[in-house]
Amino acid sequence: MSRWGEGAGGMGQGARVLSGILAGFGLSISAASASAFEGIGRTATDAEIRAWDIDVRPDFVGLPPGSGSVADGEMLWIEKCSSCHGDFGDANHVFPPLIGNTTLEDIETGRVAALREGGRTRTTIMKVSTVSTLWDFINRAMPWDKPKSLKPDEVYAVLAYLLNLADIVPADYVLSNENIDWVQSRMPNRNGMTLDHGLWKIDGKPDTHNKACMKNCLPTPVISSELPEFARSAHGELLKQTREYGAIRGTRTLPEAEPEAAAEPASSVPRDLLTANGCLACHGLDGKVIGPGFNEVAEKYQARADAIDYLKERIRNGGSGTWGDVQMPPMPQLSDADLDTITHWLSAGAEH
Ligand code: HEC
Ligand code: HEC
Repeated sequence: MSRWGEGAGGMGQGARVLSGILAGFGLSISAASASAFEGIGRTATDAEIRAWDIDVRPDFVGLPPGSGSVADGEMLWIEKCSSCHGDFGDANHVFPPLIGNTTLEDIETGRVAALREGGRTRTTIMKVSTVSTLWDFINRAMPWDKPKSLKPDEVYAVLAYLLNLADIVPADYVLSNENIDWVQSRMPNRNGMTLDHGLWKIDGKPDTHNKACMKNCLPTPVISSELPEFARSAHGELLKQTREYGAIRGTRTLPEAEPEAAAEPASSVPRDLLTANGCLACHGLDGKVIGPGFNEVAEKYQARADAIDYLKERIRNGGSGTWGDVQMPPMPQLSDADLDTITHWLSAGAEH
């Protein structure tokens, strides 16, 4: 047997490892009876169903006919995919690498050794068991910024390129609906799928070999992988991106904010004082409200030698005529200390 196995380029040998899970989705959309919900909505048209019903199953039901070469795939890849996934599918900047850390031996055994050994970056090709999943996902979701823009032949081509990067097919390979089941027989992790725990039920039966648990069912959780420190904030604060109700909370990925400094430095705005005494109802920090903006007041008296005394008198006693006809009310309740704070802040430029 050559490095590529007997089936390279020819018709497949049909290692249809998995067909169970997606079969459960055998959608019988048109069967949904319109009369059960009289007056609500309408039956979907065949064209609408076709546009929606694009899944490709592990047994390749749903796979459109077509083909694409590794060489064409490389050109397309550079044009449409490499900016995010790197020239060789090995970039880590928008998503973990697609390709890497699988060996020719894994292709023989169908189990990726590095997955069990751990300690290596987990790539897509290490984990995915079914080549149909790659076809389906690229077809429906990639390129990320233009999903569903690829024609079937283009999906075959970029997939052929990726498969070649992982040494699953040779460089002169033309992937097609005719030979894709041979590719399945070389997927490095084709035997890595397990039915030991379930996702959902099919026809009343669970899709696993699990036994129903009746008591002491929660196993002790073991953390088997964690976000590496350098990648924690790659998507911002996950805590804020997760809904705030229910049992599951997002994890904190940004450092906790520093607590606010208890005492404000002298130059910053005495906001609490201005609020408590109603000053901000009539004065803006930037610009006029009823009275002049505090920035304008500061500017007007910045060169005045006795600005602090002057302002103290004006605030304490109120009055009108300097900025217009409206009266500023007297402020007898202000303590001397607070008046001091406010006028020092004003005469220092009313920064905020
Ligand atoms: C603009 C950035 C961008 C471009 C361009 C792009 N991708 Fe992706 N790709 C992503 C992101 C982000 C994800 C993860 C998506 C998710 O998990 O929902 C992803 C996921 C994938 C996956 C699935 C990986 C996994 O393990 O789930 C494959 C396969 C893939 N891309 C192939 C392609 C191909 C082929 C192209 C070009 C036709 C392409 N991508 C173009 C950003 C991009
Ligand atoms: C009900 C509205 C109102 C409130 C409350 C108010 N002011 Fe005024 N303030 C004015 C008006 C109107 C003027 C303009 C008076 C004038 O034209 O002479 C003014 C003028 C001023 C001036 C400028 C005086 C000058 O001669 O340039 C300062 C300083 C000032 N206010 C500070 C304060 C402070 C500090 C507070 C809170 C402790 C406060 N004001 C509360 C309406 C108000």
